[in-house]
Amino acid sequence: HFPAHVKIVEVGARDGLQNEAQVSTETKVALINALAHAGVRYIEAGAFVSPKWVPQMADSADVINALNLPNVELAALTPNLQGAQAALNAGVKEFAIFTAASEAFCQKNINCSIEQSIARFEPVMAFAKEHGIKVRGYVSCVMGCPYQGDVAPEQVLAVSQALLDLGCYEISLGDTIGVGTPLKVTQLLTTLLQQIPVDKLAVHFHDTYGQALANIYAALNLGIATVDSAVAGLGGCPYAKGASGNVATEDVVYLLQGLGIECGIDLERLAKAGWLISDALNKSAVSKVSNALRSK
Ligand code: HMG
Ligand code: MG
Repeated sequence: HFPAHVKIVEVGARDGLQNEAQVSTETKVALINALAHAGVRYIEAGAFVSPKWVPQMADSADVINALNLPNVELAALTPNLQGAQAALNAGVKEFAIFTAASEAFCQKNINCSIEQSIARFEPVMAFAKEHGIKVRGYVSCVMGCPYQGDVAPEQVLAVSQALLDLGCYEISLGDTIGVGTPLKVTQLLTTLLQQIPVDKLAVHFHDTYGQALANIYAALNLGIATVDSAVAGLGGCPYAKGASGNVATEDVVYLLQGLGIECGIDLERLAKAGWLISDALNKSAVSKVSNALRSK
C-alpha cells in the first residue's frame, strides 16, 4: 500500500523557527534557498499571525520578498483576513489556515472556539478563491491535547470535514504534542479514510515521544503520500508546553529512500541546509540522520 511518491511539506522555516530563538531575515532566506537547492518543492516560509503572539514570524513578508524561487510553492499561515491580505501582498502562492480538534487548544492557540475559527476562515477562503490561491487546512491535536487529554477520531473527522467543506484542498493532521503511536495513527486514519479520500490527507507529526517516524511509516502503509517535516527537527509549538519539534526532514527522506519511495530531495544537500540553520541557532540538529552524516 505504500505510495510510489511522497510530497514533503517542509515546515522548518515556520513551525520550526516560530519556536526557536529569533534568527535574522537573511538566515531564514539562506535556509529556504538551501532547501530549494536540495530539491524541496513545497516550503512553508512564514506565518502572517500577530507579531505579539509569535514575534519570530514578524518578518515573514521580508523573507518571502527576498526569495526568487519560481519552482517552489511558497506557503504561509493565514489565520484571518488580515493575515491573508498581508500574505498575498508578500507574494505567497498558497495559504494555510489552522484550527484544532480540541476546544481548549484552539482557544490558547488562536483565541477562539473551533466553531468561531471556521467562521473566521470563511472570508479567508473567499479572498483566496478570488485571487486563485489554494488553501491548506491544519487540524491540531489529532492524537491528544495538552489541556484536554484524549481526542476522539470522530472529532478529528468532524473538524477535517468542516475545513474540506470550506474549500481546503488538503487537511494536515497535526500531532501537535507528539503523543501518537502507530496504533493510534492507524485507528485515526482508518476512521478518516472512510469519509475522506487519501489524497486529501497529510500527516504532520511532532517527535516529542520519539514516535514520529514509526507513525509516518504507519501512515505510508495506509497510502498517505504527503508528509510535513522540519529540517534539523527544528521547533515545537508555543502553545503546547514541552512539545518538541517536527519530525526531521532528513530522517523522513532517509526512511523514504530506504523504502524505495521517491521524494525528489537530495539528502546531502538537505543535511547541509540543516547544518546551516543549526549553526545559526548554535545547537545540533535534532535528527539522527543529520548528525550521522555530519560525523562521517
Ligand atoms: P486576536 O487577538 O484574537 O485577534 O488574535 P484580533 O483580531 O482581536 O486582533 C488583535 C490584535 O492582533 C490587533 O492588533 C490586530 O491588528 C492584530 P492591535 O490592535 O492589538 O495592535 N492581528 C494581527 N497582526 C498581524 N497579522 C495578523 C493579525 N490578526 C490580528 N494576521 C490571532 C487572533 C489568530 C491573530 C492570534 O491569536 C494569533 O496570531 N495567534 C498565533 C497563532 C500561531 O501562530 N500559532 C502557532 C502556529 S499553529 C501551529 O504551530 C500548529 C501547526 O503546526 C499544526 C500542529 O502541529 O498541530 C499548524
Ligand atoms: Mg506543528
